[in-house]
Amino acid sequence: MTVEEARGTFSPELVARVEEMAKRYPHRKAALIPAMHFIQAERGGWFSDETIRDTAALFGVPDMHVRGIVGFYDMFHDAPVGKHVVRLCKTLSCHLRGAAKLREHIRERYGVGNGETTADGAFTFKCFECLGHCANAPMMLVDDRKCLDLTVEKLDEILGGLR
Ligand code: FES
Repeated sequence: MTVEEARGTFSPELVARVEEMAKRYPHRKAALIPAMHFIQAERGGWFSDETIRDTAALFGVPDMHVRGIVGFYDMFHDAPVGKHVVRLCKTLSCHLRGAAKLREHIRERYGVGNGETTADGAFTFKCFECLGHCANAPMMLVDDRKCLDLTVEKLDEILGGLR
C-alpha cells in the first residue's frame, strides 16, 4: 500500500492532523508515536491488524514496527477496550495506602479484574506500575484524568459516572 492509499483509509481530519504534526519533526517517522494516539482514537480505541497495516503504510515503516510499538507501550491497545480505560496504580506507595483494597472492590462491585472490560462496556480496568503521583496515593487514571487520594467512596463516585 502506498502512503497515498494509506491516507485514504483515514478521515481527512486525521490525515491533516498527522501531516501537520509530521512537519514539526526532522523525520516523518518521528511523528509516528504521537500520531498513533489520534489513530487509535479514530479506529475505536485499539489497533486491529488492519489499523496496524494502514498506520505502517502511512508512515512507510514495516507493519512489525507499529506492532512492536503497540505491544510495548501500555497506552496503546491490541484488543478492543471499553469506552474508558481505568488504570489503577499498584506500586509501593499506592499499595501501602490501600490500592489492593480498591482493586478488590473493583472486582466485587464492577466484576472486572486486571485487563477485563465491564459487561456494559463502560470501562476496561488495568493495574499499572507507578503513575507518578506517589504523594497522592492511591491514585488512578481514567483515560487522561488523574484521580488522586482515592478512597472506596471516591472511586465509586468516579466509576459510577462512567456508566
Ligand atoms: Fe502509585 Fe507512584 S506508587 S503513583
